[in-house]
Amino acid sequence: MIGIICAMELEIEKIRVGMTDVTEEKHAGVVYTLGKKKGADVVMAVSGAGKVFAAICTQAMIDNFHPEVILNVGVAGSLSTDLSIGDIVMAEQLVQHDMDVTALGLKKGQLYGSDYRFFPANSKVIDLIKECLELVNLEREKEGKKALHAIKGTVASGDIFVADSGLKKSIVDEFQAVACEMEGAAIAQVCCVNEIRFGVVRAISDSANESSTMDFGEFCKMAADNTAELVDMFIGRYGK
Ligand code: ADE
Repeated sequence: MIGIICAMELEIEKIRVGMTDVTEEKHAGVVYTLGKKKGADVVMAVSGAGKVFAAICTQAMIDNFHPEVILNVGVAGSLSTDLSIGDIVMAEQLVQHDMDVTALGLKKGQLYGSDYRFFPANSKVIDLIKECLELVNLEREKEGKKALHAIKGTVASGDIFVADSGLKKSIVDEFQAVACEMEGAAIAQVCCVNEIRFGVVRAISDSANESSTMDFGEFCKMAADNTAELVDMFIGRYGK
C-alpha cells in the first residue's frame, strides 16, 4: 500500500481524482481515504498544517494501514534562486529548522538525546520520483505543455509560515535548504523511527519572503496541482 499525506485539502484534491473502491476510516482525528489508483492500493490523508498534526497523521497511518511507502506532497516556499513558482522540489533530506537546543551545545536542528538532525529520504523513492518527472515531462511535451522544472535538495520544516527575508536567509545559511514547509521533517522522523520508506515532493507556491502572504493565496492551488501528475505517475509505477 502507498500512503499519501498532504497538509491541506486543496493539496490532495487532484491526487484523489480517479480513485476507485473508496472507503473512509477515522483515526486520531484524521480521515483516511482508502482505495485503488492505477492498480495500486492507496491510503490518502489530510493531516492539517504543522509538525504535530503531521506526526500524528503519519503514526496513525502506519499503525492502522501499514503502508510500504509514504509520500508527503504539497506546496512549499522557495529558498533557492533556482526555483520559481510552480516548480517542483524533490527532498533529498529534511530538517526541522525551528528545533533549537544550541544553548546545550547541540547543532541547530539536532534533536536532543539523539544524533538525528537531517532525515534522508529513501534513495529508491527519490530515483523513482526523478524517473516519473521525466515521464511526465515527455507526456507534457506531446501535449504541448511546458515541462515541469524540478530540483533536488534539502527541505527545511518548521511551525512557521516563512514570510520574512531575514528568517529565510538564516534557514539557507544554516541548512543550505532549497525549500521550506511545515510538515516534511516530522513525517520523515516518524517514518524513520518506524523504518518506513518515505519521500517528500513539493511545488513552490511562494518565495518565503514579504510577498508570500499574497503569493500563497494566489499560487497555492496551481502549485499543488503541479504535483498531482507526478504523484499519479509514481503510484502507477511504484513496485512495478
Ligand atoms: N508552505 C508554502 N509556503 C510556505 C512558507 N513560505 N513557509 C512555510 N510553509 C510554506
